[in-house]
This record gives sequence, C-alpha cells and structure tokens, in this order.
Amino acid sequence: MSSLKKLREKYLAGEKLVFLTGYDALMSSILAEAGVDFILVGDSLSNVIAGYDNTLPITMEQMLWHTQMTVRGAKGVPVVADMPFMSYEVSIEQALINAGRFIKEGGATAVKLEGGTAVEPVIKALVNAHIPVCGHVGLQPQSVLTLGGYSVQGKSGSDAERIKTDALAVQKAGAFAVVLEMIPSKLAAEITDMLDIPTIGIGAGPRCSGQVLVTHDLLGFNERKLKIAKRYAEMREVALSALKSYVSDVKKGATPSEENAF
Ligand code: KIV
Repeated sequence: MSSLKKLREKYLAGEKLVFLTGYDALMSSILAEAGVDFILVGDSLSNVIAGYDNTLPITMEQMLWHTQMTVRGAKGVPVVADMPFMSYEVSIEQALINAGRFIKEGGATAVKLEGGTAVEPVIKALVNAHIPVCGHVGLQPQSVLTLGGYSVQGKSGSDAERIKTDALAVQKAGAFAVVLEMIPSKLAAEITDMLDIPTIGIGAGPRCSGQVLVTHDLLGFNERKLKIAKRYAEMREVALSALKSYVSDVKKGATPSEENAF
C-alpha cells in the first residue's frame, strides 16, 4: 500500500499522525526507528542547520541536497520536501519544475508549500501532475518580511475566518494534508472538524489530526526553550558535557589510551 494510502487509513481510523523534521541521513534513520509516519525536510533547516535568521535564504539546490540525504537514511519512511521561498511563486511552470525535482532527483514522496487561496492553483497543478502536496496555513514563516515577525495567527475573528478559508482552499486543491502553524487550539480544532484531510499541528494545540515539530527542538539541541515544543531530552547539555570531558582528557593526555591505539 502506498504511504499516502496508509496515512489516509490511519487518519480515518482516528490514529494520531506523527511528522517530524529531518535534514540528513543520520537523523532520518533515528526518526525511522522511532516510528514516525512522515519525515519533513523543513526549510527550518535554514535556521536550525545553516544558522540563518529565517527561512528565506535557503535555496532549491540546498533543499534538494538535504532531501537526498534524508531519503537515504529514512529506511522507507516517506519524506516530504519543503519548497523553499521563491521556488513556487513565480509561475506554475516554475513550481512544477521544482516540485518535480524533489520527486525525481530528491526521492521525496511529497512536497509541502506555504499559503492558502493564493496557492490554490499551484497545488492543483502539482496534484494534476501526480505530485502529492501538503499545505501549510496559519503562520507562514516564508512571509516573515511582510508579517513582521512570528506571532500567533488567527486571534481575531476575521483572521480566523481567513485561515479557515485558506485551509479549505488547500483541501479543495487536492492536498493530502495541511500543516496548521501557530494558531489558537480552538481554531485548529474547528478546522480539523471542518476538513476531510488530516491537519498536522505545530503550536496549534492537541486537537489536530497529527503533530509536527522541529526534531532539534524536542531533543533540546537549542539553547532557547520554545513554548510549542516540550523537550524530551537535553541533547545540547549531553553533547556539551561529553565534548568538555574530551577536551580536558586530550589536554591531560588521558585519551587516546593504549586501548584506542594500535
Ligand atoms: O520548515 C519546517 O520545519 C516546517 C514545520 C515545522 C512545519 O515547515
């Protein structure tokens, strides 16, 4: 059975869906063993891995390279590639070419792109070309320059209505799922009840059909603690303490010992 059919069956059976970000083969192999349903090569790698302030600088070539790495480690778990800023806005033709590259060259199962009514024709064209699409509404980090920041969206009545219209447009265009980012739990629950496709929440409360997080956030790699991500480990501290011990041991001449030598 195809991975999208499996996802649909789980959704219809009421099983919660788990998406997590992965940017390379090492992490995707761990995510696969952990039992995630989908691995998302998020453009958040621009912040998390590349060290930029936002997701705008990451390029098509860079996203493609990370998608290839992620697919190699994913042990058959389906991978969704995030379409980077300005890879689908110029024309439908451009969107088709770039999404096609993620499938043909990257080995991805699907692509994700941000936007609602504005990208309905783009999603439709990709789905018509047999490229599965995951939508993304609510907070759209690629719009940071016009939004002016990363605040919770949909707090006012009119904004909430706009997000509902966006989610419906994404569904109508043929997306197999939609990410709801940083919107009030009540609004996310309403959208989840309204749609016939799974909602995948991030900072959107517990009533979505599934959840997605930046894996590095839940593993505690970042110094900054985020409200939306419960930390299941403190990997930064674990790594730091191990590395400090190593530095100190080399300085003292305590490593390598004869055990590590030939
Ligand atoms: O880029 C990303 O990682 C994302 C999500 C976390 C949904 O788009």
